[in-house]
Amino acid sequence: MEFGIESNISYIENKINELEKFTDQKQPFTRLVFSKEFYEARSWLKNEYDKLGLLVSTDEAGNLIGTLNSKIDTDKIVIVGSHIDTVPSGGKFDGIAGVVAALCLIKHIKDNDIDLPFNLAVYDYLGEELNDWGISCIGTRGMIGALNQEILSRGNSSGNILKHEINKIGGNSKSLTKPLPTIKNILACLELHIEQGKILEQKKLDIGIVRSIPSISRFNVEVNGQAGHSGTILMDQRADALVASSEIITFVNRLALRLSQESNQHFVSTIGKINVLPNAAAIIPGKVEMTIDLRSSSKSSREEYVKELQEKIELMNKTGTCKIEMNNIANAPYVEMDKELVKLFKDSANACGLTNQIMDSGAGHDTAQLSRLVPAAMIFIPCKEGLSHCPEEHAEILDISKGTAVLLKMVENLAMLNHT
Ligand code: GLV
Ligand code: MN
Ligand code: MN
Repeated sequence: MEFGIESNISYIENKINELEKFTDQKQPFTRLVFSKEFYEARSWLKNEYDKLGLLVSTDEAGNLIGTLNSKIDTDKIVIVGSHIDTVPSGGKFDGIAGVVAALCLIKHIKDNDIDLPFNLAVYDYLGEELNDWGISCIGTRGMIGALNQEILSRGNSSGNILKHEINKIGGNSKSLTKPLPTIKNILACLELHIEQGKILEQKKLDIGIVRSIPSISRFNVEVNGQAGHSGTILMDQRADALVASSEIITFVNRLALRLSQESNQHFVSTIGKINVLPNAAAIIPGKVEMTIDLRSSSKSSREEYVKELQEKIELMNKTGTCKIEMNNIANAPYVEMDKELVKLFKDSANACGLTNQIMDSGAGHDTAQLSRLVPAAMIFIPCKEGLSHCPEEHAEILDISKGTAVLLKMVENLAMLNHT
């Protein structure tokens, strides 16, 4: 493979290792959006854009962009992007692999003086991961005009308002309730990402070509009971918010299992965030806050899940001792990738001599948001044991380099299709 030359492989390895250093030192692989480490990583990335001679900018949605302008005068743009923020104690590759692959791709195009009939831009999409404001994909939702005033005015647990954070990083929160002007010039948005699942590894495949991304919904649940002395309040006189919460957690798990079996489509639900108040051994829990994460490729199963969960909560409110409230805080619809781009990705992987398969994503991605308005598609590369969103996350540099070769072929194919 012409692209897989040693210099590209070591470039990818070096850049991933450099990015890894921008972390909360007490909790490796933690670079939350808008944190000090995130700002430092963005300065590093700006410098990398500069070193490649790219035009550096930040758009209204706070995405950090490095553009290689075409030699011909054109507004048309092809975007290759992903994200450099992480979940708490995340991994070294989720999002990062895609940004570094995009850097490597542009470096290769510059080094080889390849002419393109469109501008080619690397995007670090702002805040892809779910954050303390209860919203993921801030930058791509902003690009397509999907951030409303309620979301923009949210405060996080330290009271920082989302729109102020977007403005501080160079965005303009006033422009984000309708699509940004750039949208109309986009020919294609491409992303490379680790699979975060086990299919490619188990089937020993080089590349996954994503066909669809499931809907993602998140709900905040607040369970209000009565705090009290754990030694004196008798068992039949309690309103224990944690006990009521455990009933919801078990219900959600069993409901999702049943619906996933019935629908035979991707359907998963998780309660991974829970806050117990006051969280002390000698006090009956008075309040619990938790977040439900729901991902589905089936509209009817999603609707059934929400209906049954609401009924369960109503019943518990009628018959139990705690008051439960559930609020929908985020939604991303089920989307299919652009069919032409999927086919072109398949042709590109084949042309590189790489084994591949068309597949559905289990995780959410910025490409899902973008695909709502512009042609967008993405590829996966294998990751070890499918582990992701944990420190054990691992991908082979050679696999990232193979994926980057497919991106390059894809850009060349798009160049051929768009020649004037
Ligand atoms: C993205 O990381 C997701 O939560 O799917
Ligand atoms: Mn990601
Ligand atoms: Mn992630």
